[in-house]
Amino acid sequence: MDFSLTEEQIMIQQAARDYAQRELIRDVLERDEKAIYPAEHIKNLAELGFMGMMVDPKYDGGGMDTVSYVLAMEEISKVDSAVGVIMSVNNSLVCWGLEEYGTEEQKEKYLKPLARGEKTGAFLLSEPEAGSDATMQRTTAEDKGDYYLLNGTKNWITNGGTASTYLVMAQTHREKRHHGINTLIVERDTPGITVGKHEEKMGMRSSDTHSVMFTDVKVPKENRIGEDGFGFKFAMRTLDGGRIGIAAQALGIAAGALERSVKYSKERKAFGTEIANHQAIAFKLADMETRIDAARLLTLKSAWLKDREQPFSVASAMAKMYASDTAMWVTTEAVQIFGGYGYVREYHVERLMREAKLTQIYEGTNEIQKIVISRHLLRD
Ligand code: CAA
Repeated sequence: MDFSLTEEQIMIQQAARDYAQRELIRDVLERDEKAIYPAEHIKNLAELGFMGMMVDPKYDGGGMDTVSYVLAMEEISKVDSAVGVIMSVNNSLVCWGLEEYGTEEQKEKYLKPLARGEKTGAFLLSEPEAGSDATMQRTTAEDKGDYYLLNGTKNWITNGGTASTYLVMAQTHREKRHHGINTLIVERDTPGITVGKHEEKMGMRSSDTHSVMFTDVKVPKENRIGEDGFGFKFAMRTLDGGRIGIAAQALGIAAGALERSVKYSKERKAFGTEIANHQAIAFKLADMETRIDAARLLTLKSAWLKDREQPFSVASAMAKMYASDTAMWVTTEAVQIFGGYGYVREYHVERLMREAKLTQIYEGTNEIQKIVISRHLLRD
């Protein structure tokens, strides 16, 4: 078994680390406090090729593998996972889905500007009453001959206010249940779309989260992805890859908290010595590192499987669940190591703890990941 990285993967990891440690760090606290969208950073990351990392260069992407994507996501999310999630949604939910299942015309028109990072995309599956139970889509896409008429409301949409390209899941043939769902490419400036208020979140406050309402929105037939009724399968397959991105993001949050904890415990003194010399702290650090490494192995394994076109649905569910639980646990321990300082903003670990919570929830709660894993285990 070979755990080494290629020269190219190391270069990508280093480029992401440099940008995060030099640029993202500068205004992360202010962006978090005031919920300011990181527009300038997204532009810079696009120039580094990080907004369409895995897209084939013939569609203006970076042509990188999923392992490189994981490495970059980890470095970015060590410093600011709000930027991480914007990157993740664009890369693994929107660009990947379009490249894998879109027509040549769709790729030309929609994928290319997304892969260049000139535009961003959003993935509109969740609804007020269809979150975990994603088959219960109430948004409708009525077949009107040469167009669909879209009506309904989507919730918790990352990039909802800033994206110019939406991938929207909607029900066309209710009697067919999830086999009647379609995914449509919708331009955000189409008449009839209303973007709801910016959600004031507990963490990842500078990422852009909105509800989006559709009232009699006309979507050309050629904007449907795949065959009629393919929309739910499209969503599930795309989310399998999305979960690798969230695992990498959670990994970054945990690794960022550990780096800060190691540094702090070598500086802070109590009872006549640096707190790192107290076993109570040193053992916490050892446990944190061990769990992070296990999360990293699961995450890289799922990326490795995807790069080899082997089934990765269960591997990505395990990686997402384990890495996000690890991020929650590690960041809570980090706050404890920092004591009172951990509870105030300028030391970052309380922010990382707030960010970790979301990774246990979105792109399928960890309870949903357990459904995916256990069904695989128990099937005949
Ligand atoms: N790949 C392909 N097909 C899949 C699949 C996969 N990974 N998982 C399920 N399917 C198919 C099944 O084969 C089945 O198809 P058939 O009927 O043709 O056999 C169909 O989908 C329905 O599957 P189930 O019968 O298993 O449906 P279910 O309702 O019991 O469970 C679920 C499905 C796995 C729980 C699913 O609803 C799910 O993943 N829910 C969570 C949704 C989610 O992750 N939302 C995240 C929102 S996006 C987000 O957060 C983005 C963001 O902005 C950050």
